[in-house]
Amino acid sequence: MIRDYLFHFILVVGFFPVFSQVDLIQNVYNRNSTSLNGSWHYIVDPYENGYYNYRLMPFDQQESPNAGAFFLNSKPKSPSDLIEYNFDIMDTIQVPGDWNSQKPELLYYEGTVWYKKSFDYTFTKSQGRLFLYFEASNYKTEVYLNGTKLGTHIGGFTPFNFEITDLVKEKDNFLIVKVDNKRLKEGVPTLNTDWWNYGGITRNVKILEMPEIFIQDYFIQLHPEDTQLLKGHVLLNGEDLDRKKIRISIPGLNVDQVMKTNTAGYVTFEIQAFDIQYWSTAKPFLYDIVLATDDDKIRDQIGFRTIRTKGSQILLNNNPVYLKGISIHEESPLHGGRGSTKEDAEQLLTWAQELGCNYVRLAHYPHNEHMVRLADQKGILVWEENPVYWTIDWENEATYQNAKNQLAELIARDKNRASVIIWSMANETPNVPARNSFLSRLAEFTRTKDATRLISAALEQKSFEDDPNTRTIDDPFADKVDVLSFNQYIGWYDGLPEKCGLIRWNIKQDKPVIISEFGGGAKQGYFGDKSVRWTEEYQEDLYIQTLKMVDRMEKVSGMSPWILVDFRSPRRVLPKIQDGWNRKGLLSDEGKRKKAFYVLQNYYLLKKMP
Ligand code: GCU
Repeated sequence: MIRDYLFHFILVVGFFPVFSQVDLIQNVYNRNSTSLNGSWHYIVDPYENGYYNYRLMPFDQQESPNAGAFFLNSKPKSPSDLIEYNFDIMDTIQVPGDWNSQKPELLYYEGTVWYKKSFDYTFTKSQGRLFLYFEASNYKTEVYLNGTKLGTHIGGFTPFNFEITDLVKEKDNFLIVKVDNKRLKEGVPTLNTDWWNYGGITRNVKILEMPEIFIQDYFIQLHPEDTQLLKGHVLLNGEDLDRKKIRISIPGLNVDQVMKTNTAGYVTFEIQAFDIQYWSTAKPFLYDIVLATDDDKIRDQIGFRTIRTKGSQILLNNNPVYLKGISIHEESPLHGGRGSTKEDAEQLLTWAQELGCNYVRLAHYPHNEHMVRLADQKGILVWEENPVYWTIDWENEATYQNAKNQLAELIARDKNRASVIIWSMANETPNVPARNSFLSRLAEFTRTKDATRLISAALEQKSFEDDPNTRTIDDPFADKVDVLSFNQYIGWYDGLPEKCGLIRWNIKQDKPVIISEFGGGAKQGYFGDKSVRWTEEYQEDLYIQTLKMVDRMEKVSGMSPWILVDFRSPRRVLPKIQDGWNRKGLLSDEGKRKKAFYVLQNYYLLKKMP
């Protein structure tokens, strides 16, 4: 679209922060790398004194930046020099990790924190090229190495990387990162959310050592219409990329094919493969894949499956599947705050499996890569979501480009994960023309990046004026998605649990329906009559009544009740019950099960596959 290309040109020219995803490196998970995790010095800078001069001019846009610019890591050259900061004697903070849960004085902090990491690195240019890779940093991140600005990334939940080959020294490199988690009207997400705005370098940081010419990206999938045909593409990064040999080996399928790139270093392919063991929830079989060129080799583990819809059914490998799910926020069940480790992911997905789930909705933003890699191994289907949440600045083109960029980075990272079956465009957004156009553009863009998965979005249900007890989906965006999803809170925000018995559903669209949220709050350990709000019995009864209502509904192919674990939210302030936590979890923030956990567990245990 002209508008997109023009905007990207403007972006690069510099009127807007430069997005770095144009050369996002695929499957860093399996690359050899040097971790920069650990203790970093930090400076809390609420007035951004280390970024702007007193006339609000950014130091990094000045010819010779003032010594007060924090990214210079200035040191006094004489006893009379005036330098009003010194990273090296400041306190330290752990990377990865948000600052809110690491430093009690920063629990509610929203603003800029500067991070500094020093490192030595032995490397000669003949060895290849160096890249700095961030798995995520929330929200606006500006990166400087040895006083040079590498670039800016916007978005708190997707990876980005910068080439640093010509900047790294053998000794005393200083990496300085400005992270600003202020919520913005034009942001994605915007000002209001129902989760904690954890700020910081929240996931791993690493240095990648890559060959001069390396495999930057690849996509290997089962052809949606031909289950004995693998298709995809490979993209190289480097100079003189024409007619470079690329070898694709899949030993388990006796595939060993060599192909040649075009002048852009790009090649598409279709490879016949027989006797494929398809990936499924029952048998999550992953094939070892090796991609090799004369200079580079990368391994991956990929599952091959098809996912499509037929009327109101979701078909996994052409078999109808019912998505027995649960929604999950990315909070660490082990130490609180933003989760990012393999152990966090293992715990959350184990709880989901104990609940009887074959599916998880990773709300409301891209989770860390461990979640989808473990879901691949465990045979758990996944809904991944772009943080287009609630009342986004729909008329703002920069906001759209931001949302599109974050979605592009998510798809770039996870497009080879069999477990991921749904890309969700948004959550609970208002049905207004500007939003419909915004989301339709996003859906169109998604289909160009990945035609193999389903598109959805958590819409809002509504009742007819003349018949409040008949509910439906009346939303033009419902025509753009493959799977119709909506959140409903009958019995919590909308009447009491017994109201579920009065409600009928009239879903007109001939599409699968996922109830993407329902639920209610309970303080774990607070017992009483089921009529008493916040008791475990109230939540238990809400689940009982809701599931009876769901059983009367047509076209339901799955659900992801809200939510697996209690999570922090500044909106939830009821003393002695919420105290800054959303209590709709089936498990408390300490991992203790509530009575409603067993209601859903039993329901999934008895649920027959369609
Ligand atoms: C909404 C929203 C969630 C929120 C939940 C709640 O449906 O999607 O993000 O936490 O309701 O009110 O608890």
